[in-house]
Amino acid sequence: MKGGKKYIHFITGNIHKFNEVSEIFNKSNLNQKYKLFHSNLEPIEIQADNLRDVAVFKIKSVKNKLNESCFVEDAGFFVDEPLNGFPGVYSAYVHKTIGNEGILKLIGEESKTCAHFESVIALYFKPINEIKIFKGEVSGKIAKKMRGNHGFGFDPIFLPDTFPDKTFSEISIEIKNKISHRSQAFNKLEDFLKQNL
Ligand code: IMP
Repeated sequence: MKGGKKYIHFITGNIHKFNEVSEIFNKSNLNQKYKLFHSNLEPIEIQADNLRDVAVFKIKSVKNKLNESCFVEDAGFFVDEPLNGFPGVYSAYVHKTIGNEGILKLIGEESKTCAHFESVIALYFKPINEIKIFKGEVSGKIAKKMRGNHGFGFDPIFLPDTFPDKTFSEISIEIKNKISHRSQAFNKLEDFLKQNL
């Protein structure tokens, strides 16, 4: 605690994720009570068949290295049609290897697509020594080609249902934060912190 504010650490190696979350945090009145920190600790990342298990393992691997509350976030990109949910929990590896171009090739000429992002935040809440889970999800479709300059990862090919003509890379961080999987999960974390001030 410093200047009457409690610290909360977002443990991530992804600066885009941190920027998205801090944009929400800075607008919230929670910033009167908390200070959000970007922590670059390297949590252990396991391969599991669901995001929750990955996030829980991650937070357990680092929670005792900090003296304050901290959280990690794990996300996945699921192309439900026509790829039956691929890449899902393999999203990071698939993005690193075949990338957006590879996903577009796999989809080919298929005109009907359906996809979603999922986000799972695992918070270690120090005052009660407990791990809390918050989830978010956003649905959409896949663009025919990569479009836009904002964001990261699969943003250039994802058309959210709320703005079906724009990819996540064609909208600002502020707009993405109104609808994204990550913002929904983080809003739930904020509600939890507000109720437990
Ligand atoms: P991670 O394991 O949570 O870092 O994310 C898995 C993969 O999904 C990575 O390749 C990310 O680039 C991608 N990803 C996660 N969140 C988003 C997002 O909000 N937009 C686009 N891609 C994302």
